[in-house]
Amino acid sequence: MSKPIYVLGGPNLNLLGTREPEIYGHETLEGIHTRLRSLSGDVPLEARQTNHEGELVDWIQEASAKGSAVILNAGAYTHTSVALHDALRACKVPVIEVHLSNPAAREAFRQVNYVAPVAKATIAGLGAYGYELALLAAKSLTGQGDN
Ligand code: DQA
Repeated sequence: MSKPIYVLGGPNLNLLGTREPEIYGHETLEGIHTRLRSLSGDVPLEARQTNHEGELVDWIQEASAKGSAVILNAGAYTHTSVALHDALRACKVPVIEVHLSNPAAREAFRQVNYVAPVAKATIAGLGAYGYELALLAAKSLTGQGDN
């Protein structure tokens, strides 16, 4: 059994579907996770969301020890969390950062990013599709892709 790819979500992503749908789309997080599971084939997924910074840090440490890659949408912690940055720095598996919106095209406070400098790649602005691209990339990076 191969090691799981962790799909981790930060604060307020549990509200997807009803939270500012003009920015974040109409799809729920559960809907996104279900589609990712159907695309992941034989590779197990650990798909989780939390509103708590420390829990996200715990899960990144867990993914580093037990997983093969991390797909991370850290939500607002992207722009504030040194703890998350340090956990990602220490993470031994590749991290792909995902955002539904494109923070670079938004408010000034979203221009600070503690995740991007310690991520392998960032996919932003493509809505839920960004998660599918991140999963394809994570499978390929970990030698579990189709080609
Ligand atoms: C987000 C962008 C962040 O700036 C914001 O705080 C979120 C969602 C996105 O997916 O577009 O909560 O990560």
